[in-house]
Amino acid sequence: MKKKIFSGVQPTGNLHLGNYLGAIKNFVDLNNDTQNECIFCVVDLHAITVSQNPKQLKSNIYETVATFVASGIDPQKSTIFNQSQVSAHSEVAWILSCVARMGWLNRMTQFKEKAGKDKEKASIGLYSYPVLMAADILLYDTTHVPVGEDQKQHLELCRDVAQKFNNDFEVKDFFKAPEPLIKKEFSRIMSFKDGLKKMSKSEVSDLSRINLTDDKDQIINKIKKAKTDTLPLPSKIEELEKRPEAKNLIGIYSSLTNNTFQKTIDEFAGKNFSEFKNNLSDVVVNEINPISLKIKELLEDKDFLKKILKDGNEKANEIASKKVKEIHKIVGF
Ligand code: AMP
Ligand code: TRP
Repeated sequence: MKKKIFSGVQPTGNLHLGNYLGAIKNFVDLNNDTQNECIFCVVDLHAITVSQNPKQLKSNIYETVATFVASGIDPQKSTIFNQSQVSAHSEVAWILSCVARMGWLNRMTQFKEKAGKDKEKASIGLYSYPVLMAADILLYDTTHVPVGEDQKQHLELCRDVAQKFNNDFEVKDFFKAPEPLIKKEFSRIMSFKDGLKKMSKSEVSDLSRINLTDDKDQIINKIKKAKTDTLPLPSKIEELEKRPEAKNLIGIYSSLTNNTFQKTIDEFAGKNFSEFKNNLSDVVVNEINPISLKIKELLEDKDFLKKILKDGNEKANEIASKKVKEIHKIVGF
């Protein structure tokens, strides 16, 4: 049976190595398997759950499309579209928000992290964000969702929403509960400034992450400045547990060379970080530099990017509007 793949990325700028290794690289592999039907969405409705500059948002939407294509997603094979342009997403998010329970949303750790101490001041959208994400996924009868580890809880909520809707309205199997596709070994890339914090678009210091638009010199400089400890590289995996920065860099190297942690450790055990960092720089530059050059080239051709979205929006709208009609009937509208 064909796998139906769906995933989304927020157009909030600064797409980085964490987005790439945690999500986008997997999108590319899934896109290359002809057994799969893939849909990749630029989720601008999710982006506005925190305040955005409208001009910047618009340019970030194009940059996200350019990043997808530059990374190797083929718009002829996969559908790339823009969430706000397919109105089914907002509409079904509302219907599903009447199915999802407050208690379920209250458990979401990402909301707690993003809202910070003053929850009263967070937007309602930020709170109900996972319900919109469930609508995204369920509208396309998605079977598999490739995401980074931080989205696991949101996918569990999506499965719960699907099941409750099917039960409440007695429509067995109407919504398909999707499976997450999360990398097993190294699914969370950490900040270059603090090995206990996730690499993130919003961290103030640009040195904390490798952006997919960074040039060769920026990449080399950031890896040189990345925080490490003073010990040489270990010979056993267990020793990495207390050395988060070392673990992160070894993980990135392993991920990009398609090797296990153990193989990388065997290669570098006892060597010092400056030697390891030179090797790591080569590997990151090799992978990211061609993407960064391609993004810049694609951003010069706005018409091409607009056409990708126009075609994608049409395709997505065709599928989603059929599902909405069925939902209307089930609900009694
Ligand atoms: P976002 O930028 O929040 O829209 O995330 C897009 C995708 O990248 C999602 O699948 C995230 O789980 C993934 N992602 C974001 N940050 C990281 C990270 N530091 N490590 C691994 N995956 C990440
Ligand atoms: N919430 C996801 C993130 O922040 C983005 C997203 C929105 C998504 N809708 C989705 C991911 C549907 C997978 C499927 O990373």
